[in-house]
Amino acid sequence: MTAPVIELCDVSRRYDDGPPALHDVSLTVRAGEAVAVLGPSGSGKSTLLNLIAGLDRPDTGTVTVDGVRVDGLGEAGAARYRRAKIGMVFQFFNLLDDLTVADNVVLPAQLAGMGRGGAARRAAELLDVLGIGRYADAYPGRLSGGERQRVAVARALMNRPPLLLADEPTGALDTASGEDVGRLLADLNADGQTVVVVTHDLALARSCTTRTIRLVDGGITDATAGAGATESAR
Ligand SMILES: Nc1ncnc2c1ncn2[C@@H]1O[C@H](COP(=O)(O)OP(=O)(O)OP(=O)(O)O)[C@@H](O)[C@H]1O
Ligand SMILES: [Mg+2]
Repeated sequence: MTAPVIELCDVSRRYDDGPPALHDVSLTVRAGEAVAVLGPSGSGKSTLLNLIAGLDRPDTGTVTVDGVRVDGLGEAGAARYRRAKIGMVFQFFNLLDDLTVADNVVLPAQLAGMGRGGAARRAAELLDVLGIGRYADAYPGRLSGGERQRVAVARALMNRPPLLLADEPTGALDTASGEDVGRLLADLNADGQTVVVVTHDLALARSCTTRTIRLVDGGITDATAGAGATESAR
């Protein structure tokens, strides 16, 4: 069994006076797993991802990622943690439109203090591997949605994060581009990348993950182990 990358222990989070967005969620994700988080709108999927990414804090419970206690971090610590441990991919890409594709991709490395030459080489390599090397000097605005999402994946991988998180990565894409992104995530996972994908897209969950977790009203209702996955969601 590989080491845990994510460990959530009895995590709860509620906003204002609403019902809990997450309620007593415990979950272990091990190195090399690819996990899909499914569930209806409002069930707490993005809340779960934000807590793992240190973008939000639980009211109770602990969040540990790659040995870091994330729930106790302040703002600066959380930013440092994200740069070192997390790559994130979002539905609407979140690229900077006035930077070239290559400059978007090197940004996380610059923030982490990596030298310019090394960062540029790694960015070029990633863009080539992801099949978009020819767009390095273009601006994101002229790329298709699928190509933009590839740029976002390259940026997420720049600092070699132990954990790749994706929130509805195919939500803004046509079917063919969505399938491309699914294959890309599956390939990354086959190379050992640990991945957690929040999605409504069952085809995506099937194509690129080994385990499925279902959230309803802020709780895990169902966890299915896929081939090679370990049963570790309670
Ligand atoms: N910043 C916030 N302030 C107040 N309530 C929030 C906030 N973020 C989420 N919520 C509430 O928490 C609950 C869970 O929201 P969350 O965004 O995690 O759902 P989701 O499963 O990602 O939904 P979707 O599939 O629509 O993206 C919802 O009831 C939502 O309204
Ligand atoms: Mg969401």
